[in-house]
Amino acid sequence: MKFSKKHLFFLKILIHLAYIFTFIYLWYLLDQDLLGGDPIKELTHFLGKTALNSLLLTLAVTPISRRFKQPVLMQTRRLIGLYTFFWATLHVLVFARFELSWDLTLFFSEVYKRPYLTLGAIAWFILVLLSITSIGYIRKKMKKSWLTLHRFVYLAIILIVIHYFWSVKSGLIEPSIYIAICLLLLSERRAFCKFKN
Ligand code: HEM
Repeated sequence: MKFSKKHLFFLKILIHLAYIFTFIYLWYLLDQDLLGGDPIKELTHFLGKTALNSLLLTLAVTPISRRFKQPVLMQTRRLIGLYTFFWATLHVLVFARFELSWDLTLFFSEVYKRPYLTLGAIAWFILVLLSITSIGYIRKKMKKSWLTLHRFVYLAIILIVIHYFWSVKSGLIEPSIYIAICLLLLSERRAFCKFKN
């Protein structure tokens, strides 16, 4: 069965609902004081992990759509990508607000001093650029350079999985699994490029 525009419409509604549900769930955890002994840390982790999962999903769309010959699925990438930016930005804002009390100088000095934060900041900056340039008008204006810029998403995912790995003090299994998933997605991409050439 080939997905039609109608299927795409319902799929997009499902995507919106999934992200809205995640937000409500997080709100509930906060409201009911269910985030444990260090709620700010837990909140930062929840937001960072959601952004990472969402970015992996964005990158998985292309191989899935190719493998199952469903080109219409490609049209969900922008939506999932923008939600990724939303969660990543909340992650950065919670850190800036609750750990640094909006002190911008301290923010930049922390990002400069702690290499895992430097990687996270570069990745976030890439996500900012990708989100701004996903606007139809800007995309058209950029022509071919749009594709070049959007390939930076692969650099962003590499930086983020390292940011995660580096940030944990114990329990390296989960971040290692994320690195493996990231490498798998990158190898899919490489295999496709070779096939095309
Ligand atoms: C300026 C940019 C960023 C800053 C300042 C930042 C800050 C942080 C901090 C403070 C932690 C917690 C470290 C700890 O527990 O000691 C963290 C963890 C994490 N961050 Fe970021 N981050 C940034 C960008 C990003 C981006 C763009 C993503 C994903 C799209 C991301 C995903 C994660 C993940 C997955 C974790 C680990 C969560 C866990 O341990 O469960 N971060 N980050």
